[in-house]
Amino acid sequence: MTATATLTPQSVKIGPTKLLINGEWQNSASGKTFPTINPATEEVIAQVAEADAPDVEAAVKAARRAFEDGAWSKMSAADRGRLMYRLADLIEANKKELAALETLDNGKPFGDALAADLPLTIACYRYFAGWTDKIHGKTIPVAGPYFTYTRHEPVGVCGQIIPWNFPLLMQAWKLAPALACGCTVILKIAEQTPLTALRVGELILEAGFPPGVVNLLPGYGPTAGQALARHMDVDKVAFTGSTEVGHLIMKYAAESNLKRVTLELGGKSPNIVFADTDLDAAAEGAHFALFFNQGQCCCAGSRLFVEQKVHEQFVEKLVTRAKNRKVGDPFARGIEQGPQVDKEQFGKVLGYIEAGKKEGAELMCGGGRVGNKGYFVEPTVFNNVKDEMKIAQEEIFGPVMAVMPFKDVDEVVKRANRTAYGLAAAVWTRDIEKAHSVAARVRAGTVWVNCYDVFDAAAPFGGYKQSGLGRELGEYGLQNYTEVKTVTVKI
Ligand code: NAI
Ligand code: MG
Repeated sequence: MTATATLTPQSVKIGPTKLLINGEWQNSASGKTFPTINPATEEVIAQVAEADAPDVEAAVKAARRAFEDGAWSKMSAADRGRLMYRLADLIEANKKELAALETLDNGKPFGDALAADLPLTIACYRYFAGWTDKIHGKTIPVAGPYFTYTRHEPVGVCGQIIPWNFPLLMQAWKLAPALACGCTVILKIAEQTPLTALRVGELILEAGFPPGVVNLLPGYGPTAGQALARHMDVDKVAFTGSTEVGHLIMKYAAESNLKRVTLELGGKSPNIVFADTDLDAAAEGAHFALFFNQGQCCCAGSRLFVEQKVHEQFVEKLVTRAKNRKVGDPFARGIEQGPQVDKEQFGKVLGYIEAGKKEGAELMCGGGRVGNKGYFVEPTVFNNVKDEMKIAQEEIFGPVMAVMPFKDVDEVVKRANRTAYGLAAAVWTRDIEKAHSVAARVRAGTVWVNCYDVFDAAAPFGGYKQSGLGRELGEYGLQNYTEVKTVTVKI
């Protein structure tokens, strides 16, 4: 597998398809399996073991053992870091194979997987590997004859649940900070895209992580996912996915043991283009902000506000660019857009397009499926979308752009904030005062200025309002995986 041109679905190496519990590949207790599908061809790639409550039980026991008295808890912080660096090196050594497997299972263009998903994944493990021996408390000058200090201890056994849009990267965002802090993990991987996470499981064993430190459970949400989030011996649950399920995760935690909860949920992120910006750069940026990853990004710039003065000419640029977007076989060279991840998402996206038409948004291009096999959707642009329309309110998670003109700064900030979400936003302008002022006034966890989707393992990411709870990545991301202990000594 060297040249992109030679890649075909048949040439991709399939890794493990079982559960990883206590360092061993196992069938599920029920013996059940489920198919994972290639969304470009609608063909079954492989049958994968389906985890359910009894498997969660076994995995939690293994994780608890590893946390309390296994080799993991006795290992020095620096040695934990060495294992994580080794894992990053192994992923790097196998990056083409992993990118191809990601493309096969998820449908994203191979070029994107190789240029974005893999480097970000590797960087994430390395960034947190560097933290392992730099996590420590403070000494605190309290009144009286006492010596007080804090310890930042691992929160314990962590249940983590991830979605299918960036399978390798979401696995890294979850595992890396948890392992850096000394936690052990049970990761419930998404039913649509189990294959790369399991291949990384093989690399985790090869790197030499002790048994039980990382347990991987492919399976469904209402069964395996719920059992994990409700488990009485899980200390923390971290979830990425829909806001709807985010509400359930909090409920499960509340109804069980008040485990710590972090959530990274949906969005309807405003992307604000002012007339004074470089319009060509902004048009390309807005195109990327919405269409990247088939529109399946939690932070997609899905409400595109364009200043009235340049609205018509800007829409022309957007439409020209969308019509030129190359959609097709994600293994083919030069392809920019593959299929949506599965039939459900495909149907959901087409449903939103119909809703947009019905509510009177102006369809400028696209609007249907591409071909008659695979879940491909045409790059679609709606103009003159109204704030109250369904396509301006709800997360579409597909290649559907909604353009809305605006008149001035105060108006656009108000409209940008009129949403239940608050994950990300962007501003395009040459006016530095306007850029910083809008960045301050928008209620969102990330604001990009004259750029979009710039991610770094060191920069925190997460949502205001119903886009989530807590931050991932960076130093802030560590806080979710430690408990602070205060020790006071009489002297
Ligand atoms: P989802 O929220 O149902 O699934 C995400 C993960 O949660 C998967 O691993 C799933 O198995 C698990 N899950 C589902 N129900 C659960 C439950 N009751 N208890 C525990 N775990 C559960 O998202 P889905 O159905 O894949 O997509 C629906 C919509 O969610 C998408 O159209 C999109 O709008 C949004 N979404 C947002 C993502 C983000 O990055 N914020 C990622 C994926 C989806
Ligand atoms: Mg769901």
